[in-house]
Amino acid sequence: MPNSTVTTIILAAGRSTRMKSSTPKALHQIAGRPMLGHVLATVGSLGKSRTVLVLAPGMDDVARYAKGVDANLDIAIQDKPLGTGHAVRAAEALVPSGEGVVLVIFGDTPLVRAETLSEMVAACRAEAPVVVLGFEARDPAAYGRLVLNADGSLARIVERKDATPEEVAITLCNGGAMAVRAEHLFRLLGRMTNDNASGEYYLTDVVEHARAEGLGCAVICAPEEDIQGVNSRADLASVEAEMQRRLRRRAMEGGVTLADPETVYLCADTIFGQDVTIGQNVVFGPGVEVASNVTIKPFCHIEGGRIEEGAQIGPFARIRPGSEIGRDVHIGNFVETKKAKIEAGAKVNHLSYIGDARVGAKANIGAGTITCNYDGFNKHHTDIGAGAFIGSNSSLVAPVKIGDGAYTGSGSVITKDVPADALAVERSKHFEKPGWAAAFRAKHAGMKKAGE
Ligand code: UD1
Ligand code: CA
Repeated sequence: MPNSTVTTIILAAGRSTRMKSSTPKALHQIAGRPMLGHVLATVGSLGKSRTVLVLAPGMDDVARYAKGVDANLDIAIQDKPLGTGHAVRAAEALVPSGEGVVLVIFGDTPLVRAETLSEMVAACRAEAPVVVLGFEARDPAAYGRLVLNADGSLARIVERKDATPEEVAITLCNGGAMAVRAEHLFRLLGRMTNDNASGEYYLTDVVEHARAEGLGCAVICAPEEDIQGVNSRADLASVEAEMQRRLRRRAMEGGVTLADPETVYLCADTIFGQDVTIGQNVVFGPGVEVASNVTIKPFCHIEGGRIEEGAQIGPFARIRPGSEIGRDVHIGNFVETKKAKIEAGAKVNHLSYIGDARVGAKANIGAGTITCNYDGFNKHHTDIGAGAFIGSNSSLVAPVKIGDGAYTGSGSVITKDVPADALAVERSKHFEKPGWAAAFRAKHAGMKKAGE
């Protein structure tokens, strides 16, 4: 009887020529996370499992990324991309011999759900030594076809290129994942040949060899949208779209109102509290955490920051990495924040750039205020005290410190620290020439007449 060990082998050594990219397919992003990261997250949620990732020689950046996600993962190298079956054999030395179940999945099908894989593993343990992930394809295209026996059991898998016209018409297809009892897997793979239209060693041949030995082969089906593989940029876009649908649904189930869900783009790691309201056309980059009762108005771009309870953002705000937006803070239109700590109740309502800065509690930042944080070589810090009032169109040349409760006059270029509760004004004195404008106009009117 197979024991409870599960070894998951992720295949990602393919050439992926159809992506037309110098970046390995596994590192192309979906919802702000590399494709392989989604697969590793799914495997991680399966519970205790050894994981072996099969890569091609030279895929060091993929190996580094994968190790960063799961330091315990093993890497096997497939010398040449001779097919999915050949790739699994490359992992053989890292699979505990004859123990439990081996689950083979592909690095390019990131939408397969953990529940489906768990179901496959359970069926493999309890029912059939070989379990294949199947789906009903609207357009079976190049997918492998699942050929059934008269009694409905799985007879074999035939690749599109090797299929007879009757087999091409089959719509039940191979989703790619396969669970096989470890005691059988490598013996069955030993029977593989590359005598087929592609000249490759097909993992899918395991089914036919298992049947020949009288071993049972079962199919577990999943919805077609879970199976989508990424072979091209168009596939990448369509997997992204499905991932976005899932993330929006999850956000709404968690108590987030999306005014027009299809216009809000989320990342796999976006975190929301309850009663968050998000307007139309809002885009989240990686690393955003939004607490409860936050309102994000339309057309905002938010990346790498935390937004505390009761804050209001936008419309048209850009929150960049390192922003900490405090409780009940208001960030208004055309405001950009970066590495900025905006403390409780502060207001930055219009047309401002706040970068490398702290804005103290309840401070008010006037329209058009800019923290001049960069001198062409280094970034410098601006510190604005609690309750400070920064006049409109102030330039705060960092490093600079505005004390608690201080005022700066509109249009000032502040280059020196301002003490608490002081007023700093930096601009030329207002002067007037009475009647100057009327005289100027009269002079020009006279010139025009003379020239007529
Ligand atoms: C494979 C299946 C097909 C199934 C489809 C589902 C086989 C023979 N065919 O076809 O039945 O319908 O997936 O998406 O298994 N890889 C390697 N080394 C190799 C070749 C591939 O690691 O030598 C990896 C790829 O990086 C990829 C995965 O295996 O992650 C699948 O390979 P791919 O060439 O995309 O197989 P498909 O033609 O899509
Ligand atoms: Ca594929």
